[in-house]
Amino acid sequence: MKLWGGRFEKTTDALVEDFHSSIRFDQRLYRQDILGSIAHARMLGSVGVIAEDEASDLIAGLQAILEDIQAGKVEFEIGAEDIHMNVEKLLTERIGPVGKKLHTGRSRNDQVALDLRLYLREEIDQSKALVVKLVQTLLDLAQKHLETWMPGYTHLQKAQPITLAHHLMAYIQMFLRDLGRLNDTRKRLNVSPLGSGAMAGTTFPLNREKVASELGFDGVTLNSLDGVSDRDFALEFLASASILMMHLSRLCEELVLWSSGEFQFIAMDDGYSTGSSIMPQKKNPDVAELVRGKTGRVYGDLMALLTVMKGLPLAYNKDMQEDKEQVFDAVDTLQKCLLVVEPMLRTMQVQREAMAGGAKGGFTNATDLADYLAKKGVPFREAHELVGRIVLHCTKQGIGLEELTLSEYQTISPVFANDLFEAIGIEHCVRARKIIGGPSPETVAEAIRQSQAVLLKLLEK
Ligand code: ARG
Repeated sequence: MKLWGGRFEKTTDALVEDFHSSIRFDQRLYRQDILGSIAHARMLGSVGVIAEDEASDLIAGLQAILEDIQAGKVEFEIGAEDIHMNVEKLLTERIGPVGKKLHTGRSRNDQVALDLRLYLREEIDQSKALVVKLVQTLLDLAQKHLETWMPGYTHLQKAQPITLAHHLMAYIQMFLRDLGRLNDTRKRLNVSPLGSGAMAGTTFPLNREKVASELGFDGVTLNSLDGVSDRDFALEFLASASILMMHLSRLCEELVLWSSGEFQFIAMDDGYSTGSSIMPQKKNPDVAELVRGKTGRVYGDLMALLTVMKGLPLAYNKDMQEDKEQVFDAVDTLQKCLLVVEPMLRTMQVQREAMAGGAKGGFTNATDLADYLAKKGVPFREAHELVGRIVLHCTKQGIGLEELTLSEYQTISPVFANDLFEAIGIEHCVRARKIIGGPSPETVAEAIRQSQAVLLKLLEK
């Protein structure tokens, strides 16, 4: 017998039974669902909508069901549709007719909105903890590599020399913003929709604030239609997760590149690499590639839910049942990726020599040569033109800027003096960039200190 069977003369078609049931996936919300019901039952008793002893029976029954589900002793029924009705059905079977009072002043519409908020709140906290761990590992690496010189790129062509610490600090900034986005999402989602009913609230004198505070919410939603039909909070999570995955993916792409034979900037630990079934020499960065690949899944989850929501009239529509699988998939994917990237970074070997070697070729000091002239009074645009000609000349000769003699330099401009060689030394080029946000070891060390403080602040929220 369906919990809503009263107005029906025929039973649900078997195909529909399976088609519309969500218990296969929403059973994942059992704990949130039961905790929400316990708070609701307690409030019903306290405001006198049901008797206090009835409320106690409901709460005891719900607690026993929670324990049994946790112990793996409960089998859910497809026929009972979803986690909400499975729990309610079990409750009535166990404690008798009083179980039928639980749903007073409530609808599955506000119930499911509540469950998903509770669920996401926990998963956001869990995801944040994983990002924090990753940031700490990156900060440690940056601290260690303040003087590990490497080439910086634009268009994947060598641009200017930097350090590995400086490069990693770029990712640290991205992940700190990701933490901020997760904090924002959590703050906005932390209001209770319970009391919205099906869509028009209820005539029962429910105490919404009491339920909200028992469940750790900061307040209650202010419109009953919105309370049951808002999925912004899930979309915000998916958007934050997508951006976070995009950052992980870019980082992983660089690890793939750096571990290639052409770069050899890093060597992945064996534990985070895999071999080939045919080519005995292979050691592939599959983990990093897979993180890059899985980014697509999370974007897909975001797009799917945006598309589900875009044309829905207010308020609840069954389409919205499609929110959960997307959210679950994104949570699982994001957390698995965060979990594996941290130790992969921690265990990789940095080949300092190869990185420093890479910083040297490719005229990465050409800007510094132009700046040298500009500092001696040559207008920068002119200096740029002169150095461009010098680069062309050196390229034809197959030599670097440091290999030209002073007299050769002076045939191009009388401004050149012996101190030019110091100015274009790779180490000097980096050390001299002391501007805030720049790559000099002292600037980066300061940026690390500030980032640590930002991290602590984000954790307070
Ligand atoms: N299983 C449903 C969902 O996930 C619960 C809400 C159902 N409400 C309804 N009126 N059919 O959205």
